[in-house]
Amino acid sequence: MRIISMTLTVLLLSGMAMTTPSQGQQRNIFADPQNLQVLPADISPGELSSIMRGFTSSLGRRCAQCHMGEEDMSIFDYDFASDERPLKLVAREMLKMVMSINQTISGIDRGPDYEAITVTCITCHRGTNKPVMIESIMDDEIATGGGDAAAAKYRELREAFFGGFAYDFSAVAMARYADNLSAAGNGEAAIKLHLMNVEFNPSVPRVYFSMGNTYEREGMLALAIATYRKLLEVDPSLALRLEPGIAELEEQLAAQ
Ligand code: HEC
Ligand code: HEC
Repeated sequence: MRIISMTLTVLLLSGMAMTTPSQGQQRNIFADPQNLQVLPADISPGELSSIMRGFTSSLGRRCAQCHMGEEDMSIFDYDFASDERPLKLVAREMLKMVMSINQTISGIDRGPDYEAITVTCITCHRGTNKPVMIESIMDDEIATGGGDAAAAKYRELREAFFGGFAYDFSAVAMARYADNLSAAGNGEAAIKLHLMNVEFNPSVPRVYFSMGNTYEREGMLALAIATYRKLLEVDPSLALRLEPGIAELEEQLAAQ
């Protein structure tokens, strides 16, 4: 929903929609800017418009979150020159940062034919307010509420953002994250997240492989064996590689 309404806004606000006949003249909100401190004062209206629309889509924000205006107000009644909204000031510093990053990149000598890639807001932000990795969100949830809280948060974010590129919801990323948790001593959270990962990705071999590793590390041999057997069902081509290890685990289990 959010994405759709944002796209609509961008469409509605873009190009001609932002100019309107007023007293027989076309008014363009991007013409004649009064308070540009980073962008060049003589920037063309088209360029300024495309940068501002880039800000909204890269950050998942609306004009009124950085500029003095309200959602139900005509765009022509906004005070775009005002610096009153704190987010505008953050954005201005970000703009300086991005320019400096690009300057550094283009200053690296990679030979005369090399074309440097330009960093823009979306390179980091990926459509979200703050560019946070899903792994750091999980770390915070685990620290405060354990594995259940982390799994609940993951489900919530996946529901809202799956299909976009704000977060990496791939099976492999979660498999790796959960197995690392167990290596770092948090088997409880690791197992809960593996179980959730299996639920979302029941046919991805790597998910069972990492989960089996975790069970093994946690000393839960019967579950490790069952998980590796499930892995063989999903990918029978692994039989030669896995069977000896499974047999060894079965011996260990029998000896317990
Ligand atoms: C993330 C914050 C952010 C968002 C979202 C944003 N802007 Fe801006 N806008 C800025 C910043 C920062 C400047 C000033 C840049 C500078 O100082 O060079 C600016 C400048 C402007 C200016 C020039 C104002 C002047 O007179 O100096 C206009 C017009 C403008 N924005 C329109 C828009 C519109 C329309 C939207 C929505 C499509 C929008 N902006 C979305 C941050 C934002
Ligand atoms: C190199 C990565 C990177 C790039 C590129 C980048 N940002 Fe950011 N931005 C961040 C990080 C990290 C934060 C969070 C900082 C913090 O925790 O306060 C952030 C935070 C922000 C915030 C405040 C978000 C909030 O809700 O508090 C705004 C606004 C913002 N960026 C605007 C921009 C704009 C506009 C651009 C492009 C001109 C941009 N950023 C490019 C890394 C980046």
